[in-house]
Amino acid sequence: MSLAGRSLVTIEDLSNGEIEALFSLTDEMAESREKQAGVCQNKIMASLFFEPSTRTRLSFEAAMHRLGGNVISAINIGATSLAKGESLADMAKVVGSYADIIVIRHPWEGAAKVVADYAGVPVINAGDGGHQHPTQTLLDLYTIYEAKGSIRGQRIALWGDLKYGRTVHSLIFALAKFGANILLCPSPGLQVPEYVLKKLTAEYGGEIESGKAIEDKGKGSPLPLDAIYMTPSRPHQLAMMPDISLEVELEKEVDALYVTRPQKERFAPGEDRAMEKKFPVVDKKLLEGKAFKRTLVMHPLPRVDELAYEVDADPRSMYFKQAAWGVPVRMALIALLLGAKKTDTKDNGSPKAKPDYPPYTHNLTLACSNSACVSIQETEIKYLKPEFKIIDRKPLTLRCVYCEHEVQPPYIASSQWHQGMLENRKYHSADSHWARTIKPENLIVFPSASKAEDSGFKPSQYATSPARKTVEERGGEEGV
Ligand code: NCD
Repeated sequence: MSLAGRSLVTIEDLSNGEIEALFSLTDEMAESREKQAGVCQNKIMASLFFEPSTRTRLSFEAAMHRLGGNVISAINIGATSLAKGESLADMAKVVGSYADIIVIRHPWEGAAKVVADYAGVPVINAGDGGHQHPTQTLLDLYTIYEAKGSIRGQRIALWGDLKYGRTVHSLIFALAKFGANILLCPSPGLQVPEYVLKKLTAEYGGEIESGKAIEDKGKGSPLPLDAIYMTPSRPHQLAMMPDISLEVELEKEVDALYVTRPQKERFAPGEDRAMEKKFPVVDKKLLEGKAFKRTLVMHPLPRVDELAYEVDADPRSMYFKQAAWGVPVRMALIALLLGAKKTDTKDNGSPKAKPDYPPYTHNLTLACSNSACVSIQETEIKYLKPEFKIIDRKPLTLRCVYCEHEVQPPYIASSQWHQGMLENRKYHSADSHWARTIKPENLIVFPSASKAEDSGFKPSQYATSPARKTVEERGGEEGV
């Protein structure tokens, strides 16, 4: 297998076979570190860290040094031409002409994709805002593999800030790819974003149980459980009986408890009020429960006060080992993306086929709904246009190609209006049958009726505001 020339922007850029092959190479890197000093000789890695970092930056740089390569770095936006108003694209092209590989951490969601689109060399996402952190996920998975031998069928509890924690978002998809069950234990108000949950079940199958089912059946659970994701690869008999399956899951031991700190730097104004509500600290007492007998206690670090120092001496604590794996995992990744190493993979090497969602091509007025998205933050600069894929027709849903947040626009039109006559330029409600009949290449969406009218469209008889529709009207429309 050769990963030469590829980038790693999200964890879904690697197939399961590629991740397993990378882990075999990680073993080799860890076992014979001294022998690797010639692997990336004469290669240069640019290390661009525009958000605070200790582990990720230093382990990437240590990895490149261990491979015999060189490192150039920038760690402060204020000290780069981005502060003068340079675009990410221009920066990427220039740095790509100096270095053989780029590692970037940036506060904007989707920034790593923009850099990968323009750099002309492999780009590794070392964290793009609250979106993803795929290399942290690689070392998290490696830690579980090392300790448990497999990910499939494991019960992994995710704890703390599941809303803004980018490590959590990448990890959720990786765990689903490998067939783990996921127990979600968010701090109050910091639940996994809807777009992540929807993608999880739509693209990886399985079910999410939450609300009453969890309240009733999860009463005895030692975890502050909010929801549970059950993999479709659980034993067939259980998959056939969702209720029993949930009970069985809730009784089993927790294989790993992945603790995260509140990502306060990403909170919206007033959001830290959620922190005033009590949420348990992971300490010796909590880990006394029988569900935690063999639990790996993990944390991407840094910790604040969510994980007690007294746990450090406990053999179940894995977080410092986890951080240490960062070097061999990243050595393996850099060597593979630079084509300095090849390994065998059991699958065909292509990432799990992502559904082939059609692109949304007629963007007149639609912007991403996420203010932290690179497509919003770089709007002053004209090269970057909002881009979406059409991922669902009912309800009509578009996904931003940069940050993956979803929008459900209320109004739509077709670019092929009837007989090409201007008076036939009509817009419709997105929950009318038109959302399913207009071809993707002709679809135009509007964030409001006034935007549709500003663009020269008149309301059709199907342009009722979705919010004002009665149930009968909606039901009646199905047959249109
Ligand atoms: C994480 C990050 O930066 O997202 N840290 C890391 O890379 N090990 C987690 C965090 O900052 O809380």
